[in-house]
Amino acid sequence: MTDCLGDGAGDMTPMDLYEKLTSQGDTVRTLKTEKAAKADIDAAVQLLLKLKVDYKQVTGQDYKTGCPPSECSVSQDNGPAADGEDMVDPWNVSTTNAKGVDYDKLIVRFGSSKIDQELVDRIEKVSGQKAHRFLRRGIFFSHRDMHQVLDAYEKNKSFYLYTGRGPSSEALHMGHLIPFIFTKWLQDTFDIPLVIQLTDDEKYLWKDLSLEDCHRYAVENAKDIIACGFDINKTFIFSDLDYMGASPDFYRNVVKVQKHVTFNQVKGIFGFGDSDCIGKIAFPAIQAAPSFSSSFPQIFKGRKDVQCLIPCAIDQDPYFRMTRDVAPRIGYPKPALLHSTFFPALQGAQTKMSASDANSSIFLTDTPKQIKNKVNKHAFSGGKDTVEEHRKYGGNPNVDVSFMYLTFFLEDDEQLEKIRQDYASGALLTGELKKRLIETLQPMITSHQERRKQVTEETVKQFMTPRPLNFSF
Ligand code: TYM
Repeated sequence: MTDCLGDGAGDMTPMDLYEKLTSQGDTVRTLKTEKAAKADIDAAVQLLLKLKVDYKQVTGQDYKTGCPPSECSVSQDNGPAADGEDMVDPWNVSTTNAKGVDYDKLIVRFGSSKIDQELVDRIEKVSGQKAHRFLRRGIFFSHRDMHQVLDAYEKNKSFYLYTGRGPSSEALHMGHLIPFIFTKWLQDTFDIPLVIQLTDDEKYLWKDLSLEDCHRYAVENAKDIIACGFDINKTFIFSDLDYMGASPDFYRNVVKVQKHVTFNQVKGIFGFGDSDCIGKIAFPAIQAAPSFSSSFPQIFKGRKDVQCLIPCAIDQDPYFRMTRDVAPRIGYPKPALLHSTFFPALQGAQTKMSASDANSSIFLTDTPKQIKNKVNKHAFSGGKDTVEEHRKYGGNPNVDVSFMYLTFFLEDDEQLEKIRQDYASGALLTGELKKRLIETLQPMITSHQERRKQVTEETVKQFMTPRPLNFSF
C-alpha cells in the first residue's frame, strides 16, 4: 500500500488530515471485522499510526475520534493562558506588564494576522478614505481574511458587518464604544449592511440577573448604540431573546453549528467545566449564527454567500475561531475579523476597562464632574513623583493611562505626537496631561448623552424590527 500522504503532510490542512484519519480508522475497523489477512491489517494500522503522528505535528494535538480540529487547535491558547502569559478570553483580560497586553504575541498565539501598514494603505486605496485613527494608530491591530474581503469588494462583491454587545448593565463604558465607533466608520466608508447582536440570553446565563432585566438592558444599550450614529436604513439591531424565536432561519443556523461542535471543543476553547450549565455550553453557536448571511433572509433574501466582517476587541476571538472552523463544514464562507486592543482600566493597562468595577471605568452616563474626578483620582500616571524630577527626567507615556486614552480619542495626529514628546521630555506635567484628557472626554460624553436623549422608544423599535434594509441582494 502506498503512503497516501507522500511527503506532503505539511501541505495538508488539519481538516484534510482529520478526514483521512477518520476514514483510515474506518478501514482498519472494517478489515478487522471482516477478518482480513494479517498483512493487510498491519499495513492499514501502520498507515493509521503514521497519520496520527502527522496530525500531531500539524495541529499540535492528539487525534481524537469525533473531535475535528478547530483553528484554535493550531494555536494552543484556548484554555487558560500558560504561566506568565497574558490572559485574554471573553471574560478575563490581564497581564503583569504595565504597558498592557503583548498584542504581537497574542497574534502568534491566536493565529491571526497583523494589520500592517500595507493593509492600512490598501484599505485607504480601496475605500478612497483616510484610514480611521484606530487603524492609523494600531488600535485595530489584528485581522483574519481582511485582504480577501477587499479583493472581493474590488470586484464589486458586497459584504456585511456584524458586531454585538452583551447587555449586562444599563450603562456602557467607554471601552464598549471602541468597536461601535469603528463599525460606524466601516459602515459609512463601505456603505454596507450591519447587524448588531444583543446577547441578553448570554448575560442571563452568565450573570445573576433575571431574563427581564437582561432584555431591558438590551433595549437600553441599543439606545447608546444608536446614539453612535448608525444609519437606520442600513442597520438591524436584535435581542437574541426576541429574534431567536422569530426567525426560523436564524435558529436553523444555530442548530447546524451546534451539531458540528463537540463538547470537547468548546471545553478546549472556552474552558467550560462539568458544573457549567448546559446553556453556556450551547451559547457559542448563538454568537456564531449572525456570521452567516442566511440568518437574515429579510436582508439578504436567502443568500448564503454574503461575506461577513466582524469588528470587535480581541477578547471575542474565541467565538469566531470556533465559527470559522465550522463555517466550511456547513457550507458557509468563514467570517473575516478586525480585532482591537483593549481600552485600559483607569488604574493601568494590566487589565481592560470593565463594567464590573465602577472605579476602573468611565461610563457613558458619567457627568462632567465625575469624569474630572475619576481621571484626577484614578488615572494611572507615568509621571515622576515630584515636579522637579518630572521636569528633569520626563514622564513615561507608554504606561500613562491619560496618554493612552488620548491615543483613542484625540483625532489630530500632530497634537498627539506633540503631547507625547512634551510629556516624555518633562515639559508637560501629569496634571496638565490629565486636564487635556478631561477636556477631550467631557464634551465627547456630553454630546453622546444628548444624542442618546433624542433616541425615542419608537426609533429603537424600528432598528429592532426584522425588515429589509436599503440594499438589493
Ligand atoms: P461585551 O458587551 O463584553 O463587549 C461589547 C464589545 O466591546 C468590546 N469591548 C472592548 N473593547 C475595547 N476595550 C475594552 N475595554 C472593551 N470591553 C469590551 C468587546 O470586544 C465587544 O466587541 N459576547 C459579546 C457580545 C457579542 C459580540 C458579537 C461582540 C455578540 N456577538 C459579535 C462582538 C462581535 C459581549 O458580551 O460583548
